[in-house]
Amino acid sequence: MTEAVKTLKVTIDNITIDVPAGTTVLQAARMIGGDVVPPAMCYYSKLQGSGGKCRTCLVEVSKGSEADPRPMPKLVASCRTGVMDGMEVKNMTSNRVGDARNGVVEFLLLNHPLDCPVCDQAGECHLQDLGYEHGKQGTRYEFKRRTFEKHDLGPYIQLHMTRCILCYRCVFTADQLTEKRVHGILSRGDHAEIATYIEKSLDNNFIGNVIDVCPVGALTDKTFRFKNRVWFTKPVLAHRNCSCCSGKVTLWQRGEEVLRVTARKDQWGEVEEWICNECRFEKKKTSDWIIEGAAPVNRHSVISQGHYEHTIKPAETFSAVMDGRNPQLLMDIHTVSEVNDPAIDLSQVNGPATSALYAKTDKKH
Ligand code: SF4
Ligand code: FES
Repeated sequence: MTEAVKTLKVTIDNITIDVPAGTTVLQAARMIGGDVVPPAMCYYSKLQGSGGKCRTCLVEVSKGSEADPRPMPKLVASCRTGVMDGMEVKNMTSNRVGDARNGVVEFLLLNHPLDCPVCDQAGECHLQDLGYEHGKQGTRYEFKRRTFEKHDLGPYIQLHMTRCILCYRCVFTADQLTEKRVHGILSRGDHAEIATYIEKSLDNNFIGNVIDVCPVGALTDKTFRFKNRVWFTKPVLAHRNCSCCSGKVTLWQRGEEVLRVTARKDQWGEVEEWICNECRFEKKKTSDWIIEGAAPVNRHSVISQGHYEHTIKPAETFSAVMDGRNPQLLMDIHTVSEVNDPAIDLSQVNGPATSALYAKTDKKH
């Protein structure tokens, strides 16, 4: 007889869901989806041991569990906190979380160069998105930004250490995907850096995946470097018969030219299937691939500005946009403004709608 899986009830931002025991708060939030999902710069569901490094996923636990309802005194990392039965969590409904996240982003940007205009990751950088949502316009930091000696990681991968946020994703990727990891994080604290210690190139098969998992522009593709801005390229799904990986990729094209090959990513920006170095770096001709069609672009990013086929646009109604839920905060514009009086059916108005029309209905009321 199979044992029934134990489920736990958790409420995140007033939305309750049943999840299997062992689920983390972040995973539970992803099951709910939408705006209750905290950002995650270091957690990566496909990499064992990831998470707990960046603190962007902090949430407030306002009720520990049914058995012990005391709130947790400090904000916790949702990617590392397991759900307890009856737990209540606040993410976007907590001012403390908003303040803390602003602080975390300020810390992440302390030493990060503001070189988005020349960075290949611009347009698909998670730190850029976070900075846009939580960042300050100026910096309070008065000291010299950290600099590092340059390390050459070989023919495929370019390292810009000043952009690294030490999330460890690339280390886990090299550890879990390739035959022999030759890089890691050396030194501690302010001196911590990605390096190979004795100069070595990162050229194991599958090592190219570190480029896809890096949430910032610290590891970029040398074969694509400075070739184009990502929003000028067109993502196309394609595959080929490959002997060592699934061969399912996204080609980034400009006209017929293939400028870059990456793995396909899911809605959380995580790689769906890892791809090998040959597919990523060596197959740069359209004729190498069987084209499936335009890739769906559903991330809020400048890439979606290109009006590609299959771009997923939000539906018109709230519930369709929010997976059947209604917004928690909603202001009816008519309670504060007389513009667009709902009593006026614009389709019935002869000619242009002018202020005179609204003035007339005001008098009527
Ligand atoms: S290089 Fe990128 S993936 Fe590696 S630790 Fe730094 S930010 Fe993370
Ligand atoms: S995603 Fe949770 S600490 Fe980084």
